[in-house]
Amino acid sequence: MKFHAEKALRGTVKIPGDKSISHRSVLLGAIANGDTTAHGFLRSADCLATIDCFRALGISIEERTEIAADGSEDNVVIIHGKGLRGLSEPSKVLDAMNSGTTVRLISGILSGQNFDSTITGDASLRKRPMRRIMEPLEMMGIMTESVENNDCIPLIIHGGNPRAIRYTSKVASAQVKSCVLLAGLYAEDPTFLTEPALSRNHTELMLSAFGGNVKSKVNKETGEATAIVYPGTILEGQEITIPGDISSAAYFLAAGLLVPGSEILLQNVGINDTRDGILRVIRAMGGSIKLNHVRMEGGEPVADILVSASELHGTKIGGSLIPTLIDEIPVIAVMAACADGDTEITDASELRVKESDRLAAIAEGLTAMGISVEERKDGLLIHGGTLHGASIRSLGDHRLAMAFAIAGIVAEGETEIDDIECVNISYPEFFADLENLRSI
Ligand code: S3P
Repeated sequence: MKFHAEKALRGTVKIPGDKSISHRSVLLGAIANGDTTAHGFLRSADCLATIDCFRALGISIEERTEIAADGSEDNVVIIHGKGLRGLSEPSKVLDAMNSGTTVRLISGILSGQNFDSTITGDASLRKRPMRRIMEPLEMMGIMTESVENNDCIPLIIHGGNPRAIRYTSKVASAQVKSCVLLAGLYAEDPTFLTEPALSRNHTELMLSAFGGNVKSKVNKETGEATAIVYPGTILEGQEITIPGDISSAAYFLAAGLLVPGSEILLQNVGINDTRDGILRVIRAMGGSIKLNHVRMEGGEPVADILVSASELHGTKIGGSLIPTLIDEIPVIAVMAACADGDTEITDASELRVKESDRLAAIAEGLTAMGISVEERKDGLLIHGGTLHGASIRSLGDHRLAMAFAIAGIVAEGETEIDDIECVNISYPEFFADLENLRSI
């Protein structure tokens, strides 16, 4: 798809449901007793993969489109939960497609079932590291087998009775944390998970809302975060409203800041403080954003964000800020490329094991667009400049495709991005929402 410099973007975008929370509504809904109704569900390829996996595990899931009070369409998903051990042995290999969240979180639940399951995914997911969940599950007494012996999927989980553990993860990862906490639901004693910095806490929040007993604490001196799950409570199905995904809002935050003369209102943005790092970075870069109508929805803070075109300057991003903006780094790098001065990103080596090696891909793409970028082992040094149109490889990575689409609408000349359909993984309406801002 080809992109050219846009004139001022103006109007409103209702941000679609949060991907992480949509996954969790199905995961917890399936193992709760009774029905869970999730409003504002993200009908994207990743979340549909989670739905398909649970259908294969014998859970009945309905998908409906309703008209919300404000006249907009509401994607509603109803999950008929069967309790902690109510899943049935799948007759096929579970396919998580491109979704790391699906594999890593479902593995925690599969470890507590009385059957074995095999889970696989697409070529990108088959390269992503799974030792990070295999290790704690094995410590819990659950046998896991990487079919190709490479610590990747396909992965066989031999279900059983996970034992409580105290586990310290080397990486701040909500996927690892959630896998261990979910497996901990099946143990007899409390399970402790410590991570070097607090990662997104949606599993903890939703587990509590379903009647689970989870505690969290952060060591103020070291930044280390520990989550403890106390098993033995009964999870009950809930009615949930899923806030909009700040990771999807990020592209329009960047577009509003970078396209001269723009002013965009982003409605329904989840601003959980384990996810709002991009807002802190925008403020540090001198960007104009205003949070309106801050409210709680489904146990998560939500706001409407007004963003206006701004002159940005470089900043430093690292440490415990990184987990709060991990998926936004590609588009933050585009903002950095347009900023005055240098932006330094450190402590971000996790980006090398996402849907693609995002540090290498950002460096390659921005360099092709005429920006001077230094790629480092755990980050990037980006010298702000002027973007020029170029040919960009998305590598089938949705976040790269959308970040470079924003670069393309800011750059001088023409930008072409391949394999653009991958936006369906997290934001199927991305181009329709961009178009609406254009025509107003
Ligand atoms: C996610 C956690 C993050 C994030 C991913 C979604 C989740 O991964 O990058 O897109 O829903 O738990 P890590 O926990 O591996 O950092």
